[in-house]
Amino acid sequence: MLLSEQSYKKIDRELAKFPADQRQSAVMAALAIAQDEKGWLAPETMQELADYIGMPAIAVQEVATFYNMYDVKPVGKFKISVCTNLPCQLSGGEKAAHHLKEKLGIGFRDTTADGQFTLIEGECMGACGDAPVMLVNNKRMCSFMSNDKIDALVEELKK
Ligand code: FES
Repeated sequence: MLLSEQSYKKIDRELAKFPADQRQSAVMAALAIAQDEKGWLAPETMQELADYIGMPAIAVQEVATFYNMYDVKPVGKFKISVCTNLPCQLSGGEKAAHHLKEKLGIGFRDTTADGQFTLIEGECMGACGDAPVMLVNNKRMCSFMSNDKIDALVEELKK
């Protein structure tokens, strides 16, 4: 068993929402649960989920590689996604991304040497009016990210 008992319990709860012949509908939730525990989705983790749910491993991989909230490569403790889609870009997204890259000393798709931060380009998060926007570990939305707010966020996460 690759995951903790607690994670399997959570996956079981997701599986229970669907009829027995539609267990694969729970795959997105299962991937999120596994990623929360493991930090990223290794091939063996995806294989384990495929076996557990009862679907082909390739189908699990397809879902995991299609959506950018899933990480199929190791990432830092904090993954910061910066929305760089056009509406955000036009409202300071580019500048915010630049500041963050300078501050962390990495580019997009990179991880800091201490394993703390990974920076990625995010897609529209449905909060274009709050630009620049960032998402930490797919869950915490940060809006109106001025350079000062970016500095404060990085300091807070470092603690
Ligand atoms: S374009 Fe960035 S949140 Fe919509």
